[in-house]
Amino acid sequence: MDVITSPTLAEASTETLSQALTEAQASYTAQRPISAHLHERAAKVMPGGNTRTVLYHPPFPLRVTSAAGAEIVDADGHTYVDLLGEYTAGLYGHSNRAIIDALHGAIETGLSLGAHTVTEISLAEQIVQRFPAIELVRFTNSGTEANLMAVSLARVATGRHAIAVVTGGYHGGLLYYGGGGSVINAPYETVLLPYNDIAGSVRQITDHAADLAAVIIEPVMGSAGCIAPIASYLHDVYAAAHEAGALFIADEVMTSRLSPSGACAMMGITPDLITLGKYLGGGASFGAFGGRADLMARFDPASVGALPHAGTFNNNALSMSAGLAGLCEVLDAATLIDLNCRGDRLRDALNEVIAKYGWCATGVGSMIGLHPVAGPVLSPDDLDQADGRRRELMFLRLLERGWYIAPRGFIALSIAVTDQHVDSFVLAVAEVLQSTPDLAVNA
Ligand SMILES: Cc1ncc(COP(=O)(O)O)c(C=O)c1O
Repeated sequence: MDVITSPTLAEASTETLSQALTEAQASYTAQRPISAHLHERAAKVMPGGNTRTVLYHPPFPLRVTSAAGAEIVDADGHTYVDLLGEYTAGLYGHSNRAIIDALHGAIETGLSLGAHTVTEISLAEQIVQRFPAIELVRFTNSGTEANLMAVSLARVATGRHAIAVVTGGYHGGLLYYGGGGSVINAPYETVLLPYNDIAGSVRQITDHAADLAAVIIEPVMGSAGCIAPIASYLHDVYAAAHEAGALFIADEVMTSRLSPSGACAMMGITPDLITLGKYLGGGASFGAFGGRADLMARFDPASVGALPHAGTFNNNALSMSAGLAGLCEVLDAATLIDLNCRGDRLRDALNEVIAKYGWCATGVGSMIGLHPVAGPVLSPDDLDQADGRRRELMFLRLLERGWYIAPRGFIALSIAVTDQHVDSFVLAVAEVLQSTPDLAVNA
């Protein structure tokens, strides 16, 4: 005989959560017939209709057709305030005059020049001036490429083969160390460090000292959920790396925005190498790696045994010009400090209203993570218990109200985002949580 038992409270709540999500997806679909059709078209020529995995979300992704200031417009004509800020690359907003003029200027002057240019010198000067640990710099096309170059340089310079990375860390599409590491990762031998566990991380570095070429680490974990380091964590990892004879590479592709001279300088650390990317190309494709002159000099083409560093578009006119305009004409210290203060204010205000629903907001300055866990979040492991359905439901509910964040809860403010946006967004999040009981973690 079948015994019918009534569902537990937890089972009932998980069922209604799934139902709420299905309804939200149906409503999303109903309001976006053009985007749905475009997705079908895209899927005929790109796997899953997608050419950048992180942008995909079910039932089909938002398809943006235009943008201005802090706003984006989708193919069906819905307007959203953009709080995703292109995963930190969109720091200047969508129509900054200085950036647009610089891009027009570059087009007029000529693209695909196939030679050294003057603009690349000026941008390199700006970067060397700004980031104290960078004595010499080289440009790449992406942050991924910058990290691959920095790691390869460390391996050549030390004559060792392994790298140490933080579990859950993301350093690009070929350098992702969540979930046991991506199967398409570059084939480096890897030592895993538990983030914010000083003893555990130092032990791993010491145990593998003989093989270790470098520790590569984000000063604040970005993609993993905007997780800040505890007081001396980075200093202790830095000391252990040097004790082991390994280089310390700071991946500041996201975090360089956290202070006028980057996150490491703000924390009093001088890495051997720093990698950069995102907004520093003014919204065009960009990456860079730089650091100690003795290490970077290995790339001097006039030197004997110089290391090669190729890349057709390393010094492309659009990225060099837009990046330069951004640093020279827009992003002075006061503007950047103001942006990060606005981020701190947003995080504090969010935490005040979301804590009672079992949610928390993490991060530093203008990088924010919105999570369906109570916190504290000290390592990516602390986010394992987050129910992905709650993240997705929050994302869809915010879209309904005209707010765009990453489906996984990532927020990166641009300078086009105002205090009024911040206040309205906090109200929107509060309203979503209040009107959607399934979102409450402690329901
Ligand atoms: C910390 C970090 N490093 C590297 C990368 C890779 O940069 P890109 O997407 O330009 O290759 C990213 C991208 O999100 C990143 O967040």
